[in-house]
Amino acid sequence: MHDSSINFADTLVQDGRPDRTEGRHVNMPLELSSTMVFDTLAEFESARDARYAPGTLYYGRYGNAAVYKLEALLAKLERTEMVTLTSSGVAAISTTLMALTAPGSHILVADNVYGNTRAFCDGLLTRQGVTVDYFDPMIGGRIAGLITETTAAIVFETPGSGTFEMPDIRAICNVARAANVPTVLDNTWGAPMFVQPLTLGVDVVVYSGSKYVSGHSDCMLGVTASAKEIGTRIRKTVMQIGDKTGGQEVLLALRGLRTLKLRLEAIDRAGREMAHWLADQPQVKRVLHPALPSCPGHEHWARDFSGAAGLFGVIFHTTSDDAVRRFVDSLHHFGIGVSWGGYESLALPVIPLRSAKPWTEPGRLVRFNIGLEDPASLKADLAAALPLLDP
Ligand SMILES: Cc1ncc(COP(=O)(O)O)c(C=O)c1O
Repeated sequence: MHDSSINFADTLVQDGRPDRTEGRHVNMPLELSSTMVFDTLAEFESARDARYAPGTLYYGRYGNAAVYKLEALLAKLERTEMVTLTSSGVAAISTTLMALTAPGSHILVADNVYGNTRAFCDGLLTRQGVTVDYFDPMIGGRIAGLITETTAAIVFETPGSGTFEMPDIRAICNVARAANVPTVLDNTWGAPMFVQPLTLGVDVVVYSGSKYVSGHSDCMLGVTASAKEIGTRIRKTVMQIGDKTGGQEVLLALRGLRTLKLRLEAIDRAGREMAHWLADQPQVKRVLHPALPSCPGHEHWARDFSGAAGLFGVIFHTTSDDAVRRFVDSLHHFGIGVSWGGYESLALPVIPLRSAKPWTEPGRLVRFNIGLEDPASLKADLAAALPLLDP
């Protein structure tokens, strides 16, 4: 859902650039900074006291001019007050959850979250005395029954990693707001173009900028976006942990954002074309693409999203792991890799990790990332490999 209060295309191109000076460059310069020096102790002290505030030049770990430009641009796209960048998507998730919890807290986490989010919750967070309960991602408003007095956050994804169920953002957030529990949404798939979750009631949006924001598989970056009060807690945690966004990464992300709309429009078109084509192949049992009615929660996508990313799942009839290995190994246009959101197509078998609601659907699941290649080449590649999945 696009909010008309900003011009999305113009913002991507015009924001996050150097301030108006004579002989102005189009792009921010690469700043390699650690120590910053001040002429008077008074200037130093005022920078130190304001070090958690966006825009303060104090010491490289807190940010430099390009970091602040990128944060302001992303805050505008997310229609919110505060963005804090992190060194990766994983760091955005872990620092946010550390900021919101304390020993004795309870959190509710969707059963289909990204594997490292689960690993962080079951590992470090649990060791810090936080209790973690997983919930059926399609629970909607019934999540009310799982909230306790100590629930400190509800964590979910649009759509879930690997299995692509699209939750009802509004129903979960309505219940959470009424119970005064902050919601944390990993919107890596839809960010920052296809939906602005903070306008639907989400309190904190996190995403991996390593994916579509930078867009060229050469940059690690994380984003947290929220209103100022909760954002300041997250920002302090990021700074106190000492997480730091690289200067080069910030420039790569700014460069990537200039073409985000063009890339995602092309990827959305190609992704849906490939998803529909795959759905017609005899080896395919079900396509888990949020824009197709065969994906659980398709109606939530249709209500809240303006488009679809190029990442989706396909359940094949085969139950043979060996056949899936042969199929994936024989593809020429699809690399095998963990990340996604770049310009290149990928294929990766997925084994869903569940605890609240076991994944029982027979067949083998493969995750596809559609890049910017010619869909005709991708179809020809798949058409040649699909018979390897026949019984
Ligand atoms: C949904 C989701 N969230 C978070 C991450 C982590 O991001 P990063 O690789 O930038 O740490 C990923 C990356 O694979 C992801 O798919």
